[in-house]
Amino acid sequence: MQKPSPASPATKVKFFSGEDLPLELHKVRVVQKLHLVPVERRLAAITEASFNTYQLSTRDIYLDMLTDSGVNAMSDNQTAAMHRADDAYAGSQSFTRLRDAVEEVLGKKYLLPVHQGRAAENVISRAFVKPGSILPMNYHFTTTLAHIMENGGKVVELLHYPDALQISSTNPFKGNMDIAALEALIARHGPAQIPFIRMEASTNLIGGQPFSIANLREVRRVADKHGILLVLDASLIGENCYFIKKREPEFKDASVGEILKVMCDLCPLVYFSARKLSSSRGGGICTNDKAIYDKLKNLVVLFEGFVTYGGISVREIESMTVGLHETTDETVISQSPSFIEYFVNEAVKRGVPMVTPPGGLGAHIDAGGILPHVPREEYQAGAFAAALYIAGAIRGMERGTVSSVRDENGKDVLADIELLRLAFPRRVFTLSQTRYALDRLHWLYLNRGLIGGLKFVEEPPVLRFFNGRLAPTSDWPQKLAAKFREDFGDSL
Ligand code: F0G
Repeated sequence: MQKPSPASPATKVKFFSGEDLPLELHKVRVVQKLHLVPVERRLAAITEASFNTYQLSTRDIYLDMLTDSGVNAMSDNQTAAMHRADDAYAGSQSFTRLRDAVEEVLGKKYLLPVHQGRAAENVISRAFVKPGSILPMNYHFTTTLAHIMENGGKVVELLHYPDALQISSTNPFKGNMDIAALEALIARHGPAQIPFIRMEASTNLIGGQPFSIANLREVRRVADKHGILLVLDASLIGENCYFIKKREPEFKDASVGEILKVMCDLCPLVYFSARKLSSSRGGGICTNDKAIYDKLKNLVVLFEGFVTYGGISVREIESMTVGLHETTDETVISQSPSFIEYFVNEAVKRGVPMVTPPGGLGAHIDAGGILPHVPREEYQAGAFAAALYIAGAIRGMERGTVSSVRDENGKDVLADIELLRLAFPRRVFTLSQTRYALDRLHWLYLNRGLIGGLKFVEEPPVLRFFNGRLAPTSDWPQKLAAKFREDFGDSL
């Protein structure tokens, strides 16, 4: 760190009782009524939704823990800023304010707005990926993989195996890239076949796990040595910075804002989903390299919209601007990780196998470890997602083989790990709701023997997990609902 580090505000509050609880550092001023429907309706609803939690209506959901994407609570200042939005097809001042915020917070002066994260991936993949390209990354994200495959490229994941995929671990930086493996890959293919190296902050599919600055510096050193572009997926950069502050001694006294800058300075091309970063809706691509900006600009006008709105409503652009600044506030960015940590630690105490250390964006349950009696081809994580909905009207997201693809012979490419993710959108759920989710997870874990498998009955060719339709392989959902009724009486 070059700059002296200012004292950052404490985010941990000690209770006199000795209890270790995450504390909300905000007050709730706008609320939305929720409906907790009885188990019989939950069974009917998941059946109507073809055992795919994406197909449920929020009418039937009590805790929507599907994602943190576009559903984070917005601050008073974000919603206030939306009122001053400058509606203009071109040259909107809302865009100028966003561009200034990107320069101030992420340190990049050229910004291309896009309608969401995958739109950035579309533009970047079309610009750089060709048939036969090799794309090394710490780990793929579903939409990244889809866009790279769409353009004929091949993703090569370079996490530290098997460490990064070990469910229960004390490794603080499971998202780190294996530098020796990166060197070997470049030696094997030659740099000309590698248009860029991608690092994903708070690596989503392995449980929201961070990488360290030390590792990012090494990746950059190798990229520079071979003249390869380094791209950062910054969708979850705030959480990654928070973990660096907590876990990487060099940065323990640095502010989140300073760490953010260090990370972005190491990566010449940065993109993000603003549905996550900035707790808003939209996305962006930013760089200090005019040549890269010019190359991508033409694709943005073709696919997204004019370069001063990029398919995003100007109101959302204003909320992105404020949200970006708020990402540097540790009291904002610590909320979701501290609730996740509480949830994971409490679930582990109850014997539930969870991804550890706790990561960003959500608590990740090891469905593969819970359901060894369900064959992997019958989608353990998908089945557990459906079961938890029946148990508690809680909607999680399957992050396992349903979210994977088929190989050229039509066989499922089995996911490395079968996870059910319970996302913690920022500042949305209270501690008692968190404890309710824990309670229903505990009950389900004790009744795990009742859970069976799923099979596809309708399978889209790309990103099949969104709209795919599945069916249970036996009448296990009915048996699970009946056991719930037996144990909980006439309670919801
Ligand atoms: N990159 C990462 C790391 C993401 O987590 C996501 C989205 C995207 C790119 C794509 O962004 O949805 O705005 O197009 N993750 C969401 C999730 C879908 O629920 O984890 P998008």
